[in-house]
Amino acid sequence: EKDLESKLPLRGKKILITAGPTYEAIDPVRFIGNHSSGKMGFDIAERAAELGAEVTLISGPTHLNVKNSVINLVRVTSAQEMYDACHKYFNEVDVTICAAAVADYKPKFVAEQKIKKAEASLTIELEKTQDILASLGRVKQNQFLIGFALETENEIENAKLKIQKKNLDLIVLNSLQDEGAGFGKATNKIIFIDKDFDIEPMDLKSKELVAADIMNKVISHYEK
Ligand code: CTP
Ligand code: CA
Repeated sequence: EKDLESKLPLRGKKILITAGPTYEAIDPVRFIGNHSSGKMGFDIAERAAELGAEVTLISGPTHLNVKNSVINLVRVTSAQEMYDACHKYFNEVDVTICAAAVADYKPKFVAEQKIKKAEASLTIELEKTQDILASLGRVKQNQFLIGFALETENEIENAKLKIQKKNLDLIVLNSLQDEGAGFGKATNKIIFIDKDFDIEPMDLKSKELVAADIMNKVISHYEK
């Protein structure tokens, strides 16, 4: 029993993870998206499952597949679908990690038919999507809530603001200062900032190892 606990320290814990981009429809054949591969969120999900957690992974469009068949993979397309799926599971989970690159804006109107190239220029009006992470922070009870932050300037200050605005326990700041880090790369340079604003910069490393570092934070939260 003692041995199982050390090998599977998250046994009995339910974890919700978001991953990948979202696609926001313009018309039946076009969308607004981004370059997120989904790899960071998928790696977190695999690591969490290895540690014994019950994992639900809500992912936007990606070519990735789960390796560990115990992971409950829910595929979604738009920010609204990801929002709905997250709120369906959130009440029942212990930990939530939002690693998805959710679109901040979506077309205000989706054309019913394919838009024809009739005019010399085209303007598409955009409106904000719902902030999924912030909405979870508003209804949070005992859940340990982890967000990501992608910043290109004043990264520490902006990440601290996100912790407060979204009611987070921990933020994973994706530091783009290093050229090995970020979208489409196999490695990430992160800085942990917790809700007490304790800052822990990590070395550049593979996304698998970043996922392990993040899950170690979750384990130590439950050891306290
Ligand atoms: N996020 C989310 N829903 C959104 C936008 C963001 O859940 N509609 C989550 C991301 O998954 C990430 C965190 O919020 O965990 C921060 O995302 P980021 O893009 O860095 O920040 P934003 O709050 O969107 O602000 P901005 O892009 O203006 O910096
Ligand atoms: Ca954003």
